This record gives sequence, structure tokens and C-alpha cells, in this order.
Amino acid sequence: MLSDLTVLSRMLRGQPRAERLQDRLEGFYRPQARDYDRFREKLLHGRQELLTSLVVPAGGTVVELGGGTGRNLEYFGPRLATFADVTIVDLCPSLLTQARARCARQGWENVRCVEADAALFRPPQPVDCVYLSYSLSMIPDWFLAVDNALAMLKPGGLLGVVDFYVARRDPPPQCQPQGGLTRHFWPWWFAHDGVFPSPDHLPYLLTRTLPVALSECRGSVPYLPGITAPYYRFIGRKPGAGPEVRRSGSPEVSWRGVGALSQRP
Ligand SMILES: C[S@@+](CC[C@H](N)C(=O)[O-])C[C@H]1O[C@@H](n2cnc3c(N)ncnc32)[C@H](O)[C@@H]1O
Repeated sequence: MLSDLTVLSRMLRGQPRAERLQDRLEGFYRPQARDYDRFREKLLHGRQELLTSLVVPAGGTVVELGGGTGRNLEYFGPRLATFADVTIVDLCPSLLTQARARCARQGWENVRCVEADAALFRPPQPVDCVYLSYSLSMIPDWFLAVDNALAMLKPGGLLGVVDFYVARRDPPPQCQPQGGLTRHFWPWWFAHDGVFPSPDHLPYLLTRTLPVALSECRGSVPYLPGITAPYYRFIGRKPGAGPEVRRSGSPEVSWRGVGALSQRP
């Protein structure tokens, strides 16, 4: 509870004003870095489901853009040790300090932490999987970040995203509609903390990838009983690996069928 107070007070004060994004992130996260994970367990829903659904081959390579404290890597479980190389990219030094401490604690020798902008970072070689967990909504040039994620993937590689969002007033056929209150309330609520749930993230992801799985949900918000915020989980495949039968933008499987998520390149 005491550690929640530190986090809550920072969140209530909002993201500090500073010209550089990195200064805004550091000013926001530094006071709450040590308590970050505990509080976000109650707020950032769907991360485990996304991570356990990402099919990465043994010996594969993975990048998390906006990886923060590296907490999400624990959701890979024993699979993590089978990956050749995993990179946590983040702009916030305080959260990366937590991530490096976690790597040392867990003995993850195949994981490296890189301080860089998610919209600009490039690994030395194309990778098998890139994912963003609640970071796309904090990245000002999110178009560039999605394009960058796709550029660093091998053809047929997987792009995973879990994040807050709101729907367009007229959403594409694969997406659910939302009421006007939801669509207007959450962008207003989150903007204070530098989080911008967009109606355009999901349509853009659906357009730029071969969709594999999609789920639109609502999750509880700590200390606001009965209030739920909309979030989505998405997995898409980078085109170009072979015959692409599903160019229409409709997912290969719904999330409910994700146990059957195919390994098809
Ligand atoms: C809500 S946190 C999520 C952290 C982590 N992915 C998780 O699920 O716990 C958003 C993260 O995105 C990072 N971030 C925001 N903009 C970024 C950018 N342009 N480049 C790299 N990281 C960024 C923040 O520093 C922060 O660590």
C-alpha cells in the first residue's frame, strides 16, 4: 500500500513538462521505478497472454520496444533460455537500471538492455519477434515505431502489441465499436501521464501486417472499483515470407483460438 502511494502520487502529478521525451519519461518514472512492477501488475493487463502466445523458435531473436523493467520477459518462462538473443529497448534510464538488475538476478545471459528510442533503434540482424507492451501509446511518433518494428523483423516474423486503446467511431470490420463515453474519457484520463490511447493504432497494425490474433478486452484500474479501461492484444506477421493468402486484413484466428496459433511462415 505504501509503495502504491509513491506510484499514485507520481501518476496524479502527471508526466513532468520537459522538451525532450527522455527527460519527461525519466522525471515520471524515476520516483516510482522500484515500485513500478508491483503497481503495474494491477493495471497493465494481457501481457502474460500476449507473451505466452508469441511463437518464437528455439535459437530465435526477440526485441521488446519500450521494455521498461524487463518484467515481461519472465512471462516467457523456460522458453527464454532457448532464445539466442533478447533485447530490451527503452529510453528511460531508471527503468533500464531495474531491467539490468533483473537480468543479473535471474542470470539471463542472453538478454541485453539498450537505451534507445523505439522509433529509431535497429538490431544488427533482422529478428524473429518484436513486441510492444503498453509502450506504443507513449511513443509520440508511433507510426515510425510500428514501421521500425516491421523493418527489423525477418519476413514472416511476428509483431505483438498489447496496449490501451479506444475505437474509431466507425471501426474497421475486424474491430469492436465502443460508446462515445469510452472513446472520449480514456484519452482524456491517460493524457495526464503521457499515455495516448489511439483509435488508429489497431487499424494501422491490421493494415501493415498479416493479422494472426486479436482480442479486445477491458481491464480493472487500481483503486477505481467497477471502472475498466479498454485494451487490446494483437499479433501480426510481417508479410513477405511466402504465399500470403490473407491479404484482406482479417485475423487467421481469433484469440479464443490462439491455442491453435499456427507456426505458418
Ligand atoms: C507503460 S511502460 C511499459 C513498460 C513495459 N513494456 C511493461 O509492460 O511493463 C512504457 C514504457 O515505454 C517506454 N518508452 C516510451 N517512449 C519510448 C520511446 N520513444 N522509446 C523507447 N521507450 C519508450 C517508457 O520509458 C516505459 O518504459
